[in-house]
Order: sequence, then C-alpha cells, then structure tokens
Amino acid sequence: MAGPRRGGRSTGTAPRRRLSPLRCIAIALAAVIVVAGLAVLIFWLAVRPAPVEYTVDGASLRGFNITARGDALNATFDLTLRADNRRNRKVALYYDSFEVAVWYGEQMLAFTEAAPFFQPRRNVTRIEAAPAAREAPLLPDVARNIKHDRSAGELPVEVRVRARIRFKVGVVKTRHYMLRVYCPQVIVKLSSPTSFDRVYCDVDI
Ligand SMILES: *[C@@H]1O[C@H](CO)[C@@H](O)[C@H](O)[C@H]1NC(C)=O
Ligand SMILES: *[C@@H]1O[C@H](CO)[C@@H](O)[C@H](O)[C@H]1NC(C)=O
Ligand SMILES: *[C@@H]1O[C@H](CO)[C@@H](O)[C@H](O)[C@H]1NC(C)=O
Repeated sequence: MAGPRRGGRSTGTAPRRRLSPLRCIAIALAAVIVVAGLAVLIFWLAVRPAPVEYTVDGASLRGFNITARGDALNATFDLTLRADNRRNRKVALYYDSFEVAVWYGEQMLAFTEAAPFFQPRRNVTRIEAAPAAREAPLLPDVARNIKHDRSAGELPVEVRVRARIRFKVGVVKTRHYMLRVYCPQVIVKLSSPTSFDRVYCDVDI
C-alpha cells in the first residue's frame, strides 16, 4: 500500500530556467541576424554608395550618307560621355568593358567599344567614343524616317552604354555587375553643330 509516489519528473513545478535546445538555436539565430543587420547598416552608413550619373555632353556626325534605297548607311557619331562619380566618397569603379551603341527607333545603327578604365572615387571622367555605321542595312521604316530627319537637319538617336564593372571600397573589390546607361533623345545636328544641349541618362545596375 504505497501512497502516491513523489519525486521523479514532476511536470507542474519543473524549473523554467532550462531552455529547450530549439529555443537556444532560435535565440542564437536571432542574435546573428541582428548583428549581421547592424554590420550591413554600419557598412552602408560608412560607405554611403550613390549612383554614378551619366550625361551626353556632345554629339556630332561625320561622313553621313544613305543610299537612295536606304539599304546602306554610313555615319560616324562623335560622342562625349561624362561619368560623374562625385557623389561617392568611398566607392571607386573598375570598368572592365565599355560598349557604346547608337540606336534609332528599333534599330542599332552604330557600335563601338571604349578602352577599359578605372574611375576613382569623387571623380568625373569624360569618355570619347565614335561608334560608326559602315554600309549598315536599314529597316524600311528606319530608312524612311532617317531621310525625313535628314531634310529636317537633325537626327534624334538614343545612346546606350553597357559596361562590366566592379566596385572598389578601400581594398575590397566586388564581383562584376552590368551597368546599363540609356540616354534618350540625343539630338545630333547634321549641319555643323553650333551648340549641344546636355542629355541626362538613366543608369541601371
Ligand atoms: C552618298 O552616297 C551616294 C550613293 O552611294 C553617292 O553618290 C554620293 O556621292 C555620296 N555622298 C557623299 C557626300 O559621300
Ligand atoms: C560608305 O562607305 C564606303 C567606304 O567606306 C563606300 O564604298 C560606300 O559607297 C559608302 N556608302 C554610302 C551610302 O555613302
Ligand atoms: C578622374 O580620373 C581620371 C583617371 O584616373 C583622371 O585622369 C582625371 O583627371 C580625374 N578627374 C578628376 C576631375 O578628378
């Protein structure tokens, strides 16, 4: 005749001090996430990355000619691009490739590659590029519109840049990113250019 046994694992009065392993892991994970978040925030505040700003500062045309049938275009675009990295106090850029294309409506008219370069922080770099069309066949619509523009004396084109870049912060270099620049409505005068209105570009990374 034994009374109810005391002892063993009583459930109701077990000390609550001991955390289950699962809870430990959850708390540790939360701590890691908070610390990582703080590290990112501190890095961000210290580096304050800002976008690079692109403009087209000059555009003119050499050797422009188009066949009557519109099946061949000759033209060389002399472009001056300006990459403004002055908003970045810490971030420099390696441009490992730099492609410049001139688009007219749906068609690419001319293309060239500029030499790779390094852009220091707080720097403005001018890039001269001369994409050229040599006997380029044109879509019928494009040929018609270009002839129309020729009589109007100016050619509205879009300048696009594609560059493989890496960022550099201090001694740290990032992986490659693709920088894309779109400069719409670049008006190229066919007669001798008098003035050129700077065109602001959209930059996408
Ligand atoms: C333009 O091309 C046409 C036909 O190919 C040629 O007859 C003409 O001389 C060229 N004009 C210029 C300025 O090169
Ligand atoms: C384009 O240039 C080539 C030589 O570079 C010439 O043979 C051709 O006639 C030119 N075409 C036009 C339309 O001017
Ligand atoms: C920008 O960097 C280039 C290449 O390092 C240099 O030639 C140029 O003088 C710099 N421009 C300015 C405004 O610092």
